Amino acid sequence: MTDLSVAAQHTPEDSARSGIAPPLWLLAELTYRCPLHCAFCYNPVDYAAQKDELDTAQWLNVLREARALGAAQLGFSGGEPLMRDDLEELVAEARKLGFYTNLITSGVGLTDQRLGVLKENGLDHIQLSFQDSTQQLNDFLSSTRTFDLKNRVARSIKAHGFPMVLNCVLHRYNLPHVDKIIEMALEMGAEYLELANTQYYGWAHANRAQLMPTAEQLHEAEAVVERYRKAIGNRCKIFFVVPDYYETRPKRCMNGWGSVFLGIAPDGAALPCHSARSLPGLAFPNVRDMSLADIWYESDAFNRFRGFDWMKEPCRSCEEKTRDLGGCRCQAYLLTQDPANADPVCDKSPHHEAVVRVVREAAQRGAALAPDEQPVVFRNDANSRQMSEQKSGPGNARQR
Ligand code: FES
Repeated sequence: MTDLSVAAQHTPEDSARSGIAPPLWLLAELTYRCPLHCAFCYNPVDYAAQKDELDTAQWLNVLREARALGAAQLGFSGGEPLMRDDLEELVAEARKLGFYTNLITSGVGLTDQRLGVLKENGLDHIQLSFQDSTQQLNDFLSSTRTFDLKNRVARSIKAHGFPMVLNCVLHRYNLPHVDKIIEMALEMGAEYLELANTQYYGWAHANRAQLMPTAEQLHEAEAVVERYRKAIGNRCKIFFVVPDYYETRPKRCMNGWGSVFLGIAPDGAALPCHSARSLPGLAFPNVRDMSLADIWYESDAFNRFRGFDWMKEPCRSCEEKTRDLGGCRCQAYLLTQDPANADPVCDKSPHHEAVVRVVREAAQRGAALAPDEQPVVFRNDANSRQMSEQKSGPGNARQR
């Protein structure tokens, strides 16, 4: 049951504090634990150093405070959120508070019994990830044998009457399979298919050379998507997101820093975007120490890149700044070592060559996979510990 009185408790007063709009979207990253080891995971490469997950009572408090602030959409994510055995309890509370809820899952652990309880407790939507339409590539990219299980889970999700988004992250390995991936989604009865080309943060940044597609691969895949869109109409809505590196203007990342998105990491750190932890010089407030209202409206981390005052040239005097807000802070840092620079995806940026070079190298490498190419670094605890020791991944000069 929707409890709108909770949402009404703080919003007008808090919004009036500073003219800052309240958050709309809460992403609860319940845990970094995950049975999969995907090569393009957006979790921080040093996730293994993060300890002490919030307990159930602390998460319940996060949900209540976020709803009171005005958040309306809630994603349960991770890692794999099904690793938490209090997920059902959190879903029930979210329903009571009036959130629209989405479970973002690999499917591992999503038994019929859990699906039944999640349905009963009011979960609205499920996003199930696949790595490819073939068992071989699905299992290689996640470093697990999960393809058959995911197929079974997809059928169970539909049998329980959930709307389903099938999510498949695209890159050089699976772009040639886009038609088969669409066929798979149609066969499973997915209402939505998210074909999200890899964006290069976290583990994907560490594997950028192996994952970056060629322009030809992208164009061919886009043409296939267009063909299917025309043929299938509204049967399944297909989203195709181009990688930033192939654009000449940056995206309005997270719809603006501290604008609508509020992420809570497993240890309670509050983040304006899911990759923000990679940025230097920002102390991210923790829900154990501060109220969400103070975090959202008052903290330095959430205010640092709001508005336009933080901008340097060429963004500061650019007539397009109100549209893209300078692009992505995490990408600016990864490629220029300064998060206040223009996102170098923009061809007005003095650092745009950093993006062009990567695209050029991908073209030289070509679509074919060479047997001797650099091995993929999979997301696992051992690699994470090693990479954090070496101060590797985001912020590592080796990767730029
Ligand atoms: Fe962090 Fe874009 S991913 S600001």
